[in-house]
Amino acid sequence: MAEIDRAAALAAAPAELFIGGRWRPARGRAAFEVVDPADESVLRRVADAGPSDASDALDHAVDAAADWAGTVPQRRADILRAAHDGLLRRREEIATLITLEMGKPLAEARGEVDYGAGFFRWFSESASRLHLDGDYGVEPGGQYRIITTKRPVGPTLLITPWNFPLAMGTRKIGAALAAGCPVVIKPAEQTPLTMLLLAEVLREAGLPDGVLGVLTTTDAAGLVQPMIADPRLRKISFTGSTRVGKLLLGQAAEGVLRSSMELGGNAPLLVFDDADIDAAVDGATVAKLRNGGESCVAANRIYVQSGVLEEFTGKLTERLAAVRTGSGLDPDTGLGPMIDARQRDKVAELVDDAVERGAELLLGGKVPGGPGYFYPPTVLRAIPADAELRTEEIFGPVAAIYPFDTEEQAIGAANDTRFGLASYVFTKDLSRAMRVAEALDSGMTGVNRGVVSNPAAAFGGIKESGLGREGSSEGIEEYLETKYIGLQL
Ligand code: SIN
Repeated sequence: MAEIDRAAALAAAPAELFIGGRWRPARGRAAFEVVDPADESVLRRVADAGPSDASDALDHAVDAAADWAGTVPQRRADILRAAHDGLLRRREEIATLITLEMGKPLAEARGEVDYGAGFFRWFSESASRLHLDGDYGVEPGGQYRIITTKRPVGPTLLITPWNFPLAMGTRKIGAALAAGCPVVIKPAEQTPLTMLLLAEVLREAGLPDGVLGVLTTTDAAGLVQPMIADPRLRKISFTGSTRVGKLLLGQAAEGVLRSSMELGGNAPLLVFDDADIDAAVDGATVAKLRNGGESCVAANRIYVQSGVLEEFTGKLTERLAAVRTGSGLDPDTGLGPMIDARQRDKVAELVDDAVERGAELLLGGKVPGGPGYFYPPTVLRAIPADAELRTEEIFGPVAAIYPFDTEEQAIGAANDTRFGLASYVFTKDLSRAMRVAEALDSGMTGVNRGVVSNPAAAFGGIKESGLGREGSSEGIEEYLETKYIGLQL
């Protein structure tokens, strides 16, 4: 596997705004620093967009909307497929960039490139079939014909998080472009470089000018609010915290914007006495440590039945103790740095709070010295009822273990949250697996596996975890509206 060095990966990423099919600096030439979370060094300076840049990008999207909606689906499919191929051709470059700005180990970053490219492939296939969908019928009185078809929602604002800088972009962009919507995307301030390189890949794949705008900024609210208030914008799709999602929904209500929200989680992972314990430890390790725990589907609460509590806890602790923390570019690293000092400190505070209230710390729990935003794999048990991490999304490499005795108890505890994104069940009893999976209040449940993410599967949550689904056949529907035509013959 050809490894790309740091300098080459950084040089590949554009550092300007992508508006109207060309690269340009922010008006006023403002720029901000992108920092390597592994050593706190400055990676690049990128353009810092303001409201007038946003309005320029929206103008271009509006101008491009009719042509893009009228572009035959096969052509839209070809562009997405070419972008998929482009991402895989530049896999090493993009993976290195993800590791540099986000921190995850290179092997995981490569996995993200494959996962992210998979959305373009998936939605290129959806685009080809789009115009085959629809209904033709006669109204019940026999007077006229009812034709039902779909059309794109229109110009769309996409807001993506820092934890999967590529895949959370392709998951939204792929669906929107396949449906025929032009988009303006605002990536997270911490990880703009991957999105800028993705724009270049889409440009090379033949995406017409104006159909995609990329605005990197340090002033998310100042940029996004006027866009949402502009009646020409017809949709918003956001991945991030429930707190910000609620604010955006409030703003979107004013213009009755179609809204897709992929928000916070508090995923329970249930291990029953009859589980294959080694498989459960494998599953819990990946559900906890994938992306360093910085994922909304990360196992936040691990419930273990009393008969296997000691065995499971011992094996999971041993497994996590063997994980090496370090720079994601080092091939031996299993856990990279956290995204920034704020996130690292928040995790440390949650752990300290639990320990102060009487939780037992079995592993980790101490911020190491030196540069970089590292936090070690950590295991806690005997966590008191008033510890904050019972209800808060940890978003870090902290395994919080809780005991239970009965199935009813486990389901009750798992569902006792305002979130409902992912959940996981480990048991060898198929009836129990299905019974519990059906009883868990979450949009997704992994049975005997710790990863649920797949472009072909419907990703999304219930309760305060969000609205709508991404990926699968449902993902494209988020960018389409139904049009009915009554035809008198
Ligand atoms: C997320 O954490 O927001 C998404 C994770 C995934 O797609 O697996």
